[in-house]
Amino acid sequence: MDIELKDLTVKVNDKIILNNFNLQINKGEIHAIMGPNGAGKSTLSKVIMGYPDYNIINGDILVNKESILKLKIDERSRLGIFLVYQNPISIEGVTMREVIKASVDANFENKKSLYEFVKELESSASKLEMDKKNLHRDFNLGFSGGERKKNEILWALMLKPKFIILDELDSGLDVDSLKIVTDAINQYLKENPDTSILIITHYTRILDYINPKFVHMVKDGSVIKSGDFSLAKLIEKNGYNQSFDIKEDTNCE
Ligand SMILES: Nc1ncnc2c1ncn2[C@@H]1O[C@H](COP(=O)(O)OP(=O)(O)OP(=O)(O)O)[C@@H](O)[C@H]1O
Ligand SMILES: [Mg+2]
Repeated sequence: MDIELKDLTVKVNDKIILNNFNLQINKGEIHAIMGPNGAGKSTLSKVIMGYPDYNIINGDILVNKESILKLKIDERSRLGIFLVYQNPISIEGVTMREVIKASVDANFENKKSLYEFVKELESSASKLEMDKKNLHRDFNLGFSGGERKKNEILWALMLKPKFIILDELDSGLDVDSLKIVTDAINQYLKENPDTSILIITHYTRILDYINPKFVHMVKDGSVIKSGDFSLAKLIEKNGYNQSFDIKEDTNCE
């Protein structure tokens, strides 16, 4: 899926959080965003997903060259956008299996039988080394931080998204779980090479597993520098307040 964020300016409660944000992600590309706390990264991901609390005062979000600004969250989900939240929400009274089944049914015209669905769900859960019993627990309720992240990836695998935003997927996942989850994502990408990915992270470890073609540094709601993987290494080493003028270090245009 091609995604273009064009001069996106977004206000929340009268405060500008995203300021002329520009980013183009082409079909099949993996991009990463790094930036200090409060830079606007999670806001960006929720704006792309269509959260109504944000006031878009300028710019556009184009998917395959068409604006999606008028589409609601569920319509964007049907288009193939999936957001793995930094802090996944829980839902009381509905099981993991029920939530995922309902969204799969809503997103695909050809409804799967319950038997087929459960078979696929359990196979994906075992890829993620999840306990199948957890599929019968309330959605994310009482799950640990890392388990919630796995639950979200399970949901993503079942929805077969075309654009996945991973908002700090790595936070909360232990070293082994991060490997298991990123292996599953890489396998998904191999089977669905047109899928685009946006990884939001503070650390390069996840990028060692899912290699981005481009890395963008975000500060005060804008992309202030773009480069390749070496930009991520430079940020991790020296932080955000260094000079980024050294071209040979970052391979930036
Ligand atoms: N509903 C809101 N009301 C007021 N301010 C908000 C609201 N939502 C976000 N903000 C502010 O917008 C800024 C950007 O928040 P955001 O969560 O996007 O940052 P972030 O880059 O994801 O940071 P982190 O790395 O800590 O996750 C913060 O200063 C935050 O307090
Ligand atoms: Mg955030």
